[in-house]
This record gives sequence, C-alpha cells and structure tokens, in this order.
Amino acid sequence: MLKKPSWKNLLPQADADKDCLPAVIEDEDEHEAEWQAVGAGKAGVAGWPWSYRPKISGRPALVAIEKIALAFESLINRLVGPHADKLNPFYHTGTVAVFLLIAVAVTGLYLTVFYVAPGLGTKVAFGAVAAIDGHWLWIGRIVRGAHRYASGAAVIATLLHALRTLFQDRFRGARWLAWFTGMLLLAAMWFEGLTGYWLVWDERAQLILETVIRALMVFPSVGVPFALNFVTNEATDQTWVFFLLLLFAHIALFAVIGAFYWFHILRLSRAKFLPARYYMIGLSILLAAAALARPATSAPQADLGRLPGQLTFDPFFLFYLPATLRVNPAFFWGGVILLFAVITAFPWLFKGKPTGKVTIDKDICTGCTKCAEDCPYNAISMLPRTDGKPHKLIAMENPNLCVSCGLCVGSCDGLAVSLTDLPAPDYYRSILTRVRAANAAAGAPVQVVFTCERHAAHGGPGAAGGAREAITVPCVGALHPNVVSQSLEAGASDVMIVGCPGEDCAQREGNLWMEARLARTRAPRLKRDFMGAPIHVAFAPPNEFTSALKSGGGTPQPAKAKPAIGPPHFVRGGLILAAALAIQVAFTDMPYRPYAPTESLLELGVRNNGEWRQNTQQLTGPELAALPHDQQVEYLNAQQAEGRFPTRLKLEVDGQVVLDQTYEPQGFHREGSAFAYGKFFVSPGARTVRLSVDDSGGGYEVAIDETANFESGQIRAITFNRVTNAFELK
Ligand code: HEM
Ligand code: SF4
Ligand code: SF4
Repeated sequence: MLKKPSWKNLLPQADADKDCLPAVIEDEDEHEAEWQAVGAGKAGVAGWPWSYRPKISGRPALVAIEKIALAFESLINRLVGPHADKLNPFYHTGTVAVFLLIAVAVTGLYLTVFYVAPGLGTKVAFGAVAAIDGHWLWIGRIVRGAHRYASGAAVIATLLHALRTLFQDRFRGARWLAWFTGMLLLAAMWFEGLTGYWLVWDERAQLILETVIRALMVFPSVGVPFALNFVTNEATDQTWVFFLLLLFAHIALFAVIGAFYWFHILRLSRAKFLPARYYMIGLSILLAAAALARPATSAPQADLGRLPGQLTFDPFFLFYLPATLRVNPAFFWGGVILLFAVITAFPWLFKGKPTGKVTIDKDICTGCTKCAEDCPYNAISMLPRTDGKPHKLIAMENPNLCVSCGLCVGSCDGLAVSLTDLPAPDYYRSILTRVRAANAAAGAPVQVVFTCERHAAHGGPGAAGGAREAITVPCVGALHPNVVSQSLEAGASDVMIVGCPGEDCAQREGNLWMEARLARTRAPRLKRDFMGAPIHVAFAPPNEFTSALKSGGGTPQPAKAKPAIGPPHFVRGGLILAAALAIQVAFTDMPYRPYAPTESLLELGVRNNGEWRQNTQQLTGPELAALPHDQQVEYLNAQQAEGRFPTRLKLEVDGQVVLDQTYEPQGFHREGSAFAYGKFFVSPGARTVRLSVDDSGGGYEVAIDETANFESGQIRAITFNRVTNAFELK
C-alpha cells in the first residue's frame, strides 16, 4: 500500500485522500485531426494555442534588450561556477536592493544621532558630519562610507531589477501595480539620496541648492522667496528650520519607501524579502571594506560667498548636475518628468495582446487547494463549498489578478483549471497527439522537449533540431507531471524539460514547482511508476537552450547532480560582488568642475517694500500714532486697498545694463513685498556696480554706485538691509 504522502502545498483544510483525485487525460480528442496536422506540419506551430506569441506589443524590443543582458549574465554565470542560480547577483537584484536599503536605514540611524547632536543649521552641519569621520576605531568612517555606498548600490540593484522585470515581460497586466510602485520607489530613493547629500552642507550641497533654486524658478512665486534665504552666508543664519525639514524629509522618505514597498509586493504570494544569508554577510563585509579603503568624504564646506570649485559627485544620485546647471531648467526637468511618466506608463502603453486568463470548472473542482497554493499571484482563493458536493472547499479565480502564467493548470489533477485560450483537457490531449504525430513523422521515438515562452522567444525550440519535438508552454510550471509521463506512454523516447535558472523564472515559481512535482516532493506528484524513467530537467538561461539540451541524456531526474555549495563558490561569488562594488565606488567620485576659474558672480536677492500707492496725504509713524484709533484703522485699510508701488530695478556693471525689470508686489491687493532675484556672471577684477531703484513711481534713484573687486570664484551679493533700510553690495 502507498504511504500517505506528505504533500507540502495543501492548505490545512484540505484532505489529500478525499480531495485529490487522479488526473484523467482522456486519450481521445475531437480535435485529433487538427493537432495531427499541426504536429506533422511543424510549420503550423502558429496554430498551436500556447506557442510563443512574438507579436505581443513591444516584445521584439524586449527580446532584443534581453539578448544583450543574457550575454553579460552568461559571462557572470561562468565566473561564479556551478551554483550560478544562487550566486549570480543578477538573479537576486530585488532582494539585494531590500537588504541594501535596510543597511542604509541602520547606518542612517547612527549618522542621525551624531548629526543632530550639535544642533541644526548651516553653521554646524558640515562640522557634525566631519566629526563622524573621526569616531572611535573607524566606526564613524565605516558607517558613513557604508551608508553612502549602500545607497548607491541600492540604486544600481534597483535599476537592474527594473530592467530585468521589463525585458522578462513582467510589467503589464495585473503586474502594473508592482511596476507603478517600483517607479515610485525609484523616485523616493532618488529624493532620499539628494536630501542626504544636501544635509552635509559642503560645496556639493551648495550645488544641489543651486539646482533646486533653478528648478523652483520655473515657478518664480515659489522659487524667488526660497532663493532669498540663501543669498549670503548671513542670510542662512535662520535656516535651522530648513535643515530640520530637510532631515525630517530624509528620514520620512524611508517610511514612504516602506509604504510603496508594501504595495509593490501586495499582489505576490510568498514575495521574497531578504536575500540568502551569504549575500547579507558578504555585502556587509564588502561595504565596510569599501568604506575603509575609500572613505566617503565631504567636499569643502559650503560658502555662499564663493562658487563651488573642483569637486567630485556621485552620478547615481547627482547625475543631473552637469546638465541642469547649463540647460534651461524648464526644459531639463520637463524632459526628465516626461521620461519618467512614459516609463511609469509602460503597462498601459504596451498593453500586449491579452492572453488567456484562468477559468475554473467548478463542477470538476474537488477543493484540493493545490492551485490556490501554487499560484504566485494570489489569483485563486479557496471558499467554503455550498453546492452540495462532498468537498469542503471550492476554488474561486480572480482573473484581474491573473498573469496567465499557467502554473495552476499544472496543479490540478482533475483538469478543472484552464486558461481561456484552451480548456485543460484539450491542451493536454493536444500535447499527446503532437507527440504521436512527431513519432509517426520521424518513424522512430523522438525526444520531447518542453520549454517555456521565454526560451522560445530566444529561438530555443526552433534550434532544437534532430529527432526532437519541442513544445512550448507558457511556463514549465504549467506542466502537470501526468503530461510528462503520458508523453512517454505516447511513445516519446525521453522527455527533456528546459526551464529558467532557479531564481530567474519569469513566472516566479514555475521552475521550482515543476522540479518538486517531478521529484515527488510537491503535489501533484509524478506517478511512482515513472520514478527513474527517462525524464530530464535542465535549468538554463534562454540563450543557453542548445547546451542545456546536450546536458540531458540519461541523467537521473530531476536534475543533474551538482557539487554541494561551499566556500570556493562563495569566494567566487564574493569576488564578483567586490568587483561590482569597486566599480561603483570608483564612479561615486566623478571629478567635476561646475564653474570655470574665470568666472565670478554678482547675485541680486532683494525683498523690498515699495511705497504705498495711497494718494491721500502720507503720514509718518508719529503722525499716525497721534490719530484716534478708528481713523488709524481707516487710514491703514485705505493703504492696504490701494497696495504698493512696484519695485523697478536697473543694474549696471561697468556701465552696461544687465537688468532692468519691474517686480510687482505680492498679495491680493499688492500690499506685500516685491521679490527680486537674479544672477550675473562677471569676469574677475574691479567692476563698477550701479543699482538704480524706483519703488515710489517717481523715477530711478541710484541706490548703489561703487567699484567692487571680484576675485575669481567670488560671489558678491546685492541685498536689502531691513535694519538700515538700504540696499547693500556685500
Ligand atoms: C526600492 C526598490 C525596489 C525593491 C527593494 C524591489 C524589490 C522587489 C522584490 C523583493 C520583489 C519580489 C520578487 C519576487 O518575489 O519574485 C519585486 C517584484 C517586482 N518588482 Fe521590484 N523592487 C524595487 C523597485 C522596482 C522598480 C524600480 C521596478 C520597475 C519599475 C520594479 C518592478 C517589479 C515588478 C514588476 C515586480 C513583480 C515581478 C513579477 O510579478 O513577477 N521594482 N520587487
Ligand atoms: S481547481 Fe484547484 S482546488 Fe479545484 S481541484 Fe483543481 S487544483 Fe484542486
Ligand atoms: S495562470 Fe493560474 S497560477 Fe498563474 S496567475 Fe493566473 S491563476 Fe495564478
């Protein structure tokens, strides 16, 4: 008698004996003639309902991108050795990104404590960060370096992860939510890095400030008042509030990332979270080593009286610096936002031909729960049964969550689950018919090769050749083990199944389920009689289909034995990660000179109150104070209602007019201040600066007329001093 199986994928409510019926694939087919024609003609494969569908919108481009990526991936596979599925970091980019973000959070906690300790603001920020470098036993240096390098590495891992989900066609249909929130995660990570570099208040931060001001200037009513806080070093005295907000944003963005991540994996069952322990240990060691070998440094302290000189910048976060300082910010940021929006909209721009969604024949379902457990996208739930059948549960599909991977079709013994393209019984019968037709055409038993659409996209089955019948299914996880055994019964010499490498299944878990079913560790299991039958399994990237076929040949199923993973393999994997990190660290310090040494700057940042327009008699302060209260109110109301004169400014440098502009007062009744902001590059040397002002409607009056020396790289600023009530050149 058979032992009661210890199946791993049944929900507790299901009873393996009562609820799991044996599959019945009737060997007679009303479409027999049709499938015979398809099978014999081979060219008729287009008629094969589940064959690779190359015409899906955007797919040729995705395959072209994937071909390039696969070439690189294969190289890494070769370098890391036999355990590439575990040790090739390309297969773990999502979980590695999660770990790196956690490393950023933990190191960030340490940095925050020491950053806020001396207080906040431009006067202390730079020193606080610099002091961290000197902490006991290089701890500060390690933490600071690891924080920076883990942030950059997280961006790289995320970009690779995004690229992989794109070319594996895992971004549309029900997966739109993961794609959409992934893009939000990317944006949040970028803001995170930007605010982080800003907090250091070095010349790099000064450049970030400059680019933010330029971006905000697209909306002057926001940009100008903001910019006026940062015209001179003195003007920044009160900016601890701003630094508090910056720090708050930097930390709060982590909560935002956490929230987006929750949505990111919401539709996945058993979403992976952390990578294997050896990744976490290896990455921690490498980050600490990188931080010691090349400590994260600050640029010279920010000085609003000087243009930032030669410095280095991190292209993973500050890639935009060189362009945005020179290009019109409206065009630059408009372009960036447009590009981001277009990529975010990919799931809707490239909808793809809808493939069959899951349908479950409720009459046949015995409530065994296997399909619900196997579905990687939570698209099937088990509900209490109310139709009088003896089973407790019934499977209910949700086509809106289904990505048409077909894994549930391979789960169901009773053939109750289909994708709408093709009912399961027809699908399985057509496979058997095709095997028989191929045997008949070859005049001898042929090898049957099952592979997935991803392999098919790279021409795998077409290249199979020889006495083989290659059959494409959406994913190898869509194969019920009985289809495999019945292919042998239908006359195949042997069966070869080629799926994607361990952690690289485009349907997340199809390759794992298929292997476990054939190894009889997961239901539905291969019939006991077929243990030891010529069934071979190979996991290979799609560009290695042909060599995967050669690797088969009589090896015991399910897979060829590999040497156990051990230290030599970890060392090889570690060296690949170390090389990647070394390249990243080298790039983190791109030399950059934002301004030429022959440049200095005249900055104008003025907040001025024009005279009141009131045409009745203007009162001085004491005169106003002498009036009775109700007359005072009346007088002030009349002033407010009429508003102020605009502020007209004319600025000349060495007799040349560089600015002649009118600035309107703010407020509904134009009762507020006028804000003026501008920057003018001047060549170093002695320059005559003359500012003429008209803020009372009476014509220009000279407010500043002096010869000022501009040193190379110096920023001199024209401001309005509210204490002396006068314009000044600083
Ligand atoms: C902070 C950044 C990110 C992290 C930590 C992250 C992590 C993850 C993880 C762990 C998974 C689950 C993988 C699995 O269990 O099979 C996942 C799925 C996914 N990610 Fe990300 N991701 C990030 C950003 C992105 C970005 C930028 C995109 C693309 C724009 C993206 C697209 C996707 C998609 C489409 C899936 C679902 C794949 C599928 O349905 O098969 N992710 N992500
Ligand atoms: S539909 Fe699902 S629950 Fe119902 S019998 Fe098939 S695998 Fe079991
Ligand atoms: S085809 Fe089946 S397993 Fe795949 S997502 Fe749809 S319901 Fe889930």
